[in-house]
Amino acid sequence: MTIIANKCPDYKVTVVDISAERIDAWNSDKLPIFEPGLLERVLSVRGKNLFFSTEIDLGIDEADIIFVSVNTPTKMFGEGAGKAVDLQFIEQTARRIKNNSKSNKIVVEKSTLPVRAAEALATILHSGDNSVEFEILSNPEFMAEGTGVSDMENPDRILIGSRDTASGLAARDVLMDIYLHWVPKERLITTNLWSSELSKLVANAVLAQRISSINTIASLCEATEADVTEVSRAIGMASRIGSKFLNAGPGFGGSCFRKDILNLVYLCEYYQLNEVAAFWEQVVSINDYQMERYVKRILQAMFNTLVGKKLAVFGFAFKPDTGDTRDAPAIYICKRLLEEKACLKITDPYALDNARKDLQLNEGKKEFIEDPYEAVEGVHAIALITEWSSYKKLDYQKIFEKMEKPAFIFDGRNCLDHQALYKIGFNVYPVGKPELSHL
Ligand code: UGA
Repeated sequence: MTIIANKCPDYKVTVVDISAERIDAWNSDKLPIFEPGLLERVLSVRGKNLFFSTEIDLGIDEADIIFVSVNTPTKMFGEGAGKAVDLQFIEQTARRIKNNSKSNKIVVEKSTLPVRAAEALATILHSGDNSVEFEILSNPEFMAEGTGVSDMENPDRILIGSRDTASGLAARDVLMDIYLHWVPKERLITTNLWSSELSKLVANAVLAQRISSINTIASLCEATEADVTEVSRAIGMASRIGSKFLNAGPGFGGSCFRKDILNLVYLCEYYQLNEVAAFWEQVVSINDYQMERYVKRILQAMFNTLVGKKLAVFGFAFKPDTGDTRDAPAIYICKRLLEEKACLKITDPYALDNARKDLQLNEGKKEFIEDPYEAVEGVHAIALITEWSSYKKLDYQKIFEKMEKPAFIFDGRNCLDHQALYKIGFNVYPVGKPELSHL
C-alpha cells in the first residue's frame, strides 16, 4: 500500500488494522517490520495520501476498493488440522465489510487463499440484504521479504484474477489502472479467479521444490565429494533450468512456503488426488530432513556430544535483510541443539527480539547477543544459519583467537571463504561439500 500511495498520488490509501499497537507503530518512525527502503517511502506519503488507522468500519465505508490482507495461517484444530488454511479471519473480515458497506465495492483478495475461496467470500458478501454489490478479484502477492520494495516497484508480473462477466472485467480494469501507474502493461497478467488463486500456491510450491531438490543433492555431494555449489552452477547456467533458488542450505523457512505447500497438499487430498498430494508433501518432508541433517552434522563432527559445549549461532531470521523469524530453520535447529544440552549464544542484526520469544519456552542455556565478536567468546563452534552480508566481512582471525580449540564452523549457507577459514585453523563444515578438517 505504501508503494501504491507513492506511485499513485491521485489515490487515497488507508490501511486499517484491529491492532492499535501496530497502527501506532506504522504512524511512528519505528515501523513494526524491518524492510529495506520502506521507512523513507512511508515518510514521503504518510499524512498526504497514505493513512494508518484503527477505524476499520469507517475505512470500509469510505473505500471503493478493499484489499483484504488478513492472515491465513495453517489451521491447527479440527478438520484439516496442520494443513488446511484457517479461514476465520477472512470470514470475519467479509462479514465486517458486508455490515459497513453502503456503496458498491471491489474486494481484492491479497491474502493467500485456497482455490475457490472467492466463492465463499462472495456468498457471505451477497447474503441477506443485496442492495450493495461486491465484485471479487484475486490479486496475489509475489514479493519476497527483504526485497519487498524493489519487488513491488519492479515486479516480474502482476496477476489479477476476475470473473469473466461484464462487472468482473470492469472491476479488473479498475485494479489494472492502479498498477499501470508504474508497471508496464505486458507485465499485467489476467486470468480467471481460480487460476489466480492457484498460481499463488503453485509459485511458492515450485520455488520450495527447487530448494528441496538441491538440498537432497547436497546430501549426496557430502557422501561423494562432489560440490553442491559447482553442481548448482553447472545446472543453473542452462537457460531451461535457470540459476535462482538453487542454493543449498539448512532448509527453507518463512511464513509462506510450508503453509502454502501444506495447503496445496490439503487441496489435492480434498479432491482425492493422493499421489499428487504425496508428491508435494515430500518437499516439506525433505526440508525437515535437511534441518535435522544440519544438526546431525554438528553433532557428529563434535565427537557426538554437545553437552555443556558453547555454540555461537550466527543469524536467526529466516533469511537476511529481515527481522522475521516465522518458521525460520534457526528455531528448529536451536531447539535441537538445546535438547543436546549445548549452550547457545545467538546473534542476529535484527531478529533477536523475535528469537527470544521463539525460544522462551525451551529449557537450556541461551544468550542473545548483538555483537558477533562478543557472541564467539569462548565458544567451541559457530553455526551460521542466516547469510547476513555482515558475517562475510568479520575478522575471522580475531574470532578464531577468541574460541575454544579445536574450533568448528558450520557454514549452513556456504557464504564464507572456506579455504581462508581452514588456513586460519578452523575445522570447516559447509553444506553439500567435503569438510576441511585438521582433525
Ligand atoms: C516467498 C516467495 O519467494 C515470494 O515470491 C512470495 O511472495 C512469498 O514467499 C509469500 O508468499 O509471501 P519469502 O518467504 O519472503 O518469499 O522469501 P524467499 O526469498 O522465497 O526465501 C524463503 C526461504 O528459502 C528462506 O529461508 C531462504 O533462505 C530459503 N532459500 C531461498 C534457500 O534455502 N535457498 C535458495 O536458493 C533460496
